[in-house]
Amino acid sequence: APRVFSGIQPSGGLTLGNYLGAIKRFVSMQDEYPCVYCMVDLHAITVWQDPKDLVHNTRELAAGLIASGISPEKSILINQSQVPEHAQLGWVFNCVARMGWMQRMTQFKDKAGKNAQNASLGLFGYPALMAADILIYHATHVPVGEDQKQHLELTRDIAAKFNHDYGVDFFPLTEPVIEGAATRVMSLRDGSKKMSKSDPSDASRINMTDDADSIAKKIRKAKTDPDALPSEIDGLKDRPEARNLVNIYAALNDQTVEDVLAEVGGQQFGTFKPQLAELAVSKLSPISHEMARLMDDPAEIDRILAKGAAQAREITAPILSKTYEIMGMVR
Ligand code: TYM
Repeated sequence: APRVFSGIQPSGGLTLGNYLGAIKRFVSMQDEYPCVYCMVDLHAITVWQDPKDLVHNTRELAAGLIASGISPEKSILINQSQVPEHAQLGWVFNCVARMGWMQRMTQFKDKAGKNAQNASLGLFGYPALMAADILIYHATHVPVGEDQKQHLELTRDIAAKFNHDYGVDFFPLTEPVIEGAATRVMSLRDGSKKMSKSDPSDASRINMTDDADSIAKKIRKAKTDPDALPSEIDGLKDRPEARNLVNIYAALNDQTVEDVLAEVGGQQFGTFKPQLAELAVSKLSPISHEMARLMDDPAEIDRILAKGAAQAREITAPILSKTYEIMGMVR
C-alpha cells in the first residue's frame, strides 16, 4: 500500500528552500496518500542543540507545517523522539548498513568538515536513522529536495540488504519524489551554494518568519548578473543566480519555468525583482502570520504531536515486532 513519509530537522528556522523543496509537496500529497510528516529531533541532536532552542524550534516547525496547509486531521504529524520505534529500528539498521556506505555520504563530509574525527558518531550514522524513519512505516514515497537524493538511495540499499540477509521481502524499496521548479533553492548571495538555515549570512536566505520588509529587501539585494532575463530556458544556462530567482518565482506561483520566462523574458532585474518580492510576500506572509498565531498556544501544538505519536505507533509497533521476529529476537 502506498504511504508518504518525510522529515525536517528542527535545527533552526524554516527557509524558503524547505518550503519550496519539501513542504509545498507535502501539502499536495495529503489528498492522494496517507502521509506521515516528522520533526526529526533525534537527527537535529547529531550536532549539539541548545535545549531551549530545540523545544522552540520543534514547536515552530510543527506550526510552520500546519500553517503551510498540512492538516493534522488528514496527515499524521509527529516529533521523532515521541515515536520510539524510529530509534529502535535505527539501531537495527546500524547493524545492516556498512561503514563504507556511510563514508560516501556527501552530506556527512560537508557537515563534518575537515575535522571528521570530532564529529559525533550519530552524525556518521545519520542516514541509517533516516532509513528507519521511512521504513518503520513501510513508506513508499518520500518527497524531498535534491540534497536528500543520496540518502534515499542509501535507504533503498539498506532495505535491499535487510531483505537479502534475512531472505524476506519485508521492506519496500522507496521512491524519492523530487519534483517541481525548486528542488534546489540556492543562496541569494551565491548561486553555487544551497540556501540553508545554517548559512552564517541571514541575507542569503528567506526565513519563513521574515516580515514583508525583510523579504523585499533580501530579494532586492539578491546577487544577479547585469543581463536581461531570457525568454527561453536555454538562456539561463551558466546564469545560476538568474535561474534561481526564476525557479523561485515559478515554484511560488505554481507555474513552469517556461511559462514564467514567456512572461518576463526581456525584463531587467530592476523590474523583475519587485514582482518576485510582491509574489513572495503574498504567498509567505499569510503563512508566517498563521505560524505566529499557532505559537501563541504551544500546548495545542503539543497536543497535536501527542495525538500524532499515538496514531503513528499503531503503524510502527507492529512493523518493529515483525522486524525483531524476522531477526530471531525472543519476544
Ligand atoms: P532538512 O531538515 O535539511 O531539510 C528538510 C527538507 O527541505 C529540503 N531542502 C531544500 N529543498 C530545496 N532547496 C533547498 N535549498 C533546500 N534546503 C532544504 C530538504 O531536501 C528536505 O526535504 N535528512 C533530512 C531530514 C530527514 C528526512 C527523513 C527526510 C530525516 N529523516 C526521512 C525524508 C525522510 C534533512 O536533513 O532535511
